[in-house]
Amino acid sequence: MHTDVAIIDPLYPDAEVLNKAAEILRSGGLVAFPTETVYGLGANALDENAVQKIFEAKCRPAHNPLIVHVHDAASAKALAIDWPEVAQRLAETFWPGSLTLVVRKKPCVPDIVTASGDTVALRMPSHPVALALLASAGIPVAAPSANRSTRLSPTTAEHARRDLEGRIDMILDGGPASGGLESTVLDVTARVPRLLRPGLVTPAQIEAVIGPIEIPPHERDKQTREILRSPGMMEKHYAPRTPLECIHEDSWKRVDELLQQGLRVGWLIFEDSGKGHPHLKKIVLPAAAEAYAARMYAALHELDDAGVDRIVVAAPPQKEEWLAVRDRLRRASAK
Ligand code: TXA
Ligand code: MG
Repeated sequence: MHTDVAIIDPLYPDAEVLNKAAEILRSGGLVAFPTETVYGLGANALDENAVQKIFEAKCRPAHNPLIVHVHDAASAKALAIDWPEVAQRLAETFWPGSLTLVVRKKPCVPDIVTASGDTVALRMPSHPVALALLASAGIPVAAPSANRSTRLSPTTAEHARRDLEGRIDMILDGGPASGGLESTVLDVTARVPRLLRPGLVTPAQIEAVIGPIEIPPHERDKQTREILRSPGMMEKHYAPRTPLECIHEDSWKRVDELLQQGLRVGWLIFEDSGKGHPHLKKIVLPAAAEAYAARMYAALHELDDAGVDRIVVAAPPQKEEWLAVRDRLRRASAK
């Protein structure tokens, strides 16, 4: 299959390019497109055969359900059998944006989208290209991240191309995804909404709108290692090819140890310590959570590409604003 890569202006997307991509979606094809979190791989969410192609292109296990992207809150409601008051308030506050809401689905949502569950995950993205594509296509679009299953999420069209070229119809290249981490996933079907995946919208922001939510114990308590009970939330996920370790105390000590063993090491740090070695590749990331998140996947892609043997990450602080970053690093380091 030939994959058409089309450059598109992220702020003023060209209507002709959009129409072409929308036509592919309407006729059951696959299009990768930028969102404000990461690149997504889209298909018509109401077309079972089209969605099946996503699973094949990504080699994604069928038990991992997909997020359905909608153009507005009304289109989200149209897919839900029940739209709780909290969903309404959260949508009004955070949409368009990087919060995904899990609600009870209507029968029109195919089983393949929801891994046969009775709930569906819905999100209205804020990226102008994603929104314009949804408007032009006029359908809800199921879109996981545009990478092969278990690999690092793509924050650029180039990342998506390397994983999926020849397996999908089109890639819209709208420049780097600004947020850099996947959306927050919140289940609002229970009496107390439950955080299924931390993301750029923090628990504190959500709780300011709807009151207390349930956060899995390991997220608040670093001793516990319980796995998130979201279907398909696999522990090993979002991982670079290179083995990665997160070090809480002196990460240089570990780096030095690995260098002594003759290994080439990639080192993600907050501040340049001035330490150097011919086999060491350092990347200094910002000390603020949001800015760190925006660059983290790109940095891990870069270290993977550099062909290092090991990646050592200086662990971020145990503060709530770092929840999503710590979650992804924990998954990236899972054996
Ligand atoms: O930022 C994002 O959310 C990106 C962009 C493309 O929108 N998408 C994304 O999709 O990260 P994906 O497929 O890589 O992750 C979807 C997550 C999975 O962890 C899945 O388990 C969860 O959402 N999920 C989907 N449907 C669900 C449902 N009905 N119940 C519980 N969790 C669900
Ligand atoms: Mg993904």
